[in-house]
Amino acid sequence: MYFPKYRLRRLRGNKNLQRMVRETKLFVDDLVMPFFVREGKKVKKIISSMPGNYQLSVDNLVREVEEVKEADIPAVLLFGIPDVKDEEASSAYAGEGIVQRAVRAIKDRVPGMIVITDVCLCEYMSHGHCGIIKGRPLPKTESRKPKAEIDNEATRHLLARTALSHVRAGADVVAPSAMMDGQVSAIRGILDENGYQDIPIMSYSAKYASSFYGPFREAAESPPAFGDRRSYQMDMANSHEALREVALDIEEGADIVMVKPALGYMDIIYRVKEKFGYPVAAYSVSGEFAMVKAAVEKGWLEEKKTVLEILTGLKRAGADIIITYWAKDVARWLKES
Ligand code: PBG
Repeated sequence: MYFPKYRLRRLRGNKNLQRMVRETKLFVDDLVMPFFVREGKKVKKIISSMPGNYQLSVDNLVREVEEVKEADIPAVLLFGIPDVKDEEASSAYAGEGIVQRAVRAIKDRVPGMIVITDVCLCEYMSHGHCGIIKGRPLPKTESRKPKAEIDNEATRHLLARTALSHVRAGADVVAPSAMMDGQVSAIRGILDENGYQDIPIMSYSAKYASSFYGPFREAAESPPAFGDRRSYQMDMANSHEALREVALDIEEGADIVMVKPALGYMDIIYRVKEKFGYPVAAYSVSGEFAMVKAAVEKGWLEEKKTVLEILTGLKRAGADIIITYWAKDVARWLKES
């Protein structure tokens, strides 16, 4: 038997041939662009650690979403920054809350755009945690760091109320990100009871406690005032547990499951896709964005090539949907190439 030595290279010599045998392709259809919306008019506040991203008031947000539509990106994901924060996150589920008004404005002015809302309480809580805190935290001393004990039951019902108010405002998909047990079933239940059986849930199923959320916490003004999120977000060292999280979410009614962050967790994306065959979303988070941007600013990396390589990697791993702060650039780059 004759095995020519460079058999595989034959398919690489010609650009067009390469195009034909390429296994993974990134499409504009895969992208979701996240936005931060806040109160006020004509607000466009720079987020220093996320160049090119801003906190926007509803009027400016609508303009940006129009551009996203022109770029042919199918969906946006909204995060709200309310004026009022308290210990019940009451602005999260207010009918006239910031996200609710933003959703209405987009549905009104940018028809056809899919509006996904992040369903969490951290941006609306005075203490910045994703749920209701049981009792009071301990005072901070050197020997005993305060710990946040979250009331899972109370929280999942507030998340459900929040999701319902987003859907009433016109949200097409809700995306719970608080990592409370049973949050998907609470949301599925309340939506169904209110006649919204057809609204899908994209669940942040495997969301890890990650340093890569750093810039986001500046962007959304939601850093925890004490303690951290390790009692509810996943331990970075675990992968079987991620599969259990996903299995439960699917059982509870999730339609799309998410892995977050993306870059350091491609093995999780792969395993989730292989095992469940469900639509998988990968969230390329703020820190992944910031570190490449910083290297690009220093002239150490070439932005377009690096970003396309990272995002193609996410698709190759098994992601169907990619949430990225580069969505608009990628849409442009894909047209060029
Ligand atoms: C929680 C939430 C976070 C992100 C998305 N939803 C922050 C957190 O859990 O601390 C992070 C997104 C990013 O870093 O880009 N509402």
